[in-house]
Amino acid sequence: MADITRSYLHKWERLETLKWYPELRKYTFDVACKLLVGTDAAADSHFAELFEEWCEGLFTIPVPLPWTKFGRALRCRQQLLKRIEEIVLKRQQQPSSSQDALELLLQARDEDGNSLSVQELKDQVLLLLFAGHETLTSALASLCLLLAQHPEVLANARAEQQQLGFEEPLTLEHLKQMTYLEQVLKEVLRVIPPVGGGFREVLKPCEFNGYLIPQGWSALYQVGRTHKDSSVYTQPERFDPQRFIPERSEDKAKPFSHIPFGGGVRECLGKEFAKLEMKLFAALLIRQYEWELLPEQNLDMIMIPTPHPRDGLQVKFRRTAATTVYTNSQK
Ligand code: HEM
Repeated sequence: MADITRSYLHKWERLETLKWYPELRKYTFDVACKLLVGTDAAADSHFAELFEEWCEGLFTIPVPLPWTKFGRALRCRQQLLKRIEEIVLKRQQQPSSSQDALELLLQARDEDGNSLSVQELKDQVLLLLFAGHETLTSALASLCLLLAQHPEVLANARAEQQQLGFEEPLTLEHLKQMTYLEQVLKEVLRVIPPVGGGFREVLKPCEFNGYLIPQGWSALYQVGRTHKDSSVYTQPERFDPQRFIPERSEDKAKPFSHIPFGGGVRECLGKEFAKLEMKLFAALLIRQYEWELLPEQNLDMIMIPTPHPRDGLQVKFRRTAATTVYTNSQK
């Protein structure tokens, strides 16, 4: 994960000005392919293009004609599944020692010793690749945008890095100690949650706020509305990572107040993976780089498939003038 992150940071430094959102998408897709399926997306640009076109058609009017976005998405899905089948079959024939998610799925057995069929494996891989990069792209774009708009928060996060002074490679133990950064990421996911909500089926009739909800109904939980609840968060519209310091812990007063990853038994399966990638990316970014928003761009959020700025987040990107050398002596 760190190697891929560093190579993208170098690339953006060379570009100097860039549209960040599509670049972030390539980055998260590369990480997902490598860590979940063990393939190198950067070397297979056709795979990435098919995936992008499929994603574009996911939330469109379902008219399956060859020239509609939906029709093109269906076609791309077939081609993606074919490519994924090749990957799965190759891995079945040549078992590897990879520790990626595909290996876990290949090894999985149910109580009767049955493994997943090729069809199931294909579906799971496609789901993982989608879930594993679309939401993260949105979260990282929001992080970069909010930090550019709140230089005082960025300065505090940088100060934490300098004070901790860990040299690379960063370990899980290092990341755990970045408590201010943790608060920043939590606040990013509160203010601009990548997923708007989810459905649950009502299993037993129940009463909520004086209304009877019958069995069998679908209930929609709303993440954004929950995160903007002024009975939970003070000045919910403000971007304020300090609301999560232990003395305030605003999200702890009521259960399920901070739910970017959903909640309960169907909570996001990739929550820890996502939090790790966000933190590692953020730490490597703020330690050595700075960026500013280019003028005259539309920063209004498009919400589908996940929130992102309309003009793709255009920035000037460079290495910080006063790059701290992170050496052992600063530990
Ligand atoms: C910031 C990044 C992410 C956010 C905000 C996010 C959010 C969510 C949400 C809200 C759900 C629905 C949970 C529910 O219904 O209660 C979900 C489900 C899921 N997510 Fe994520 N997710 C993220 C990253 C990831 C990653 C990186 C992966 C895979 C590595 C992943 C895999 C999944 C899967 C497989 C499910 C379905 C779980 C189930 O139905 O049991 N997600 N995610």
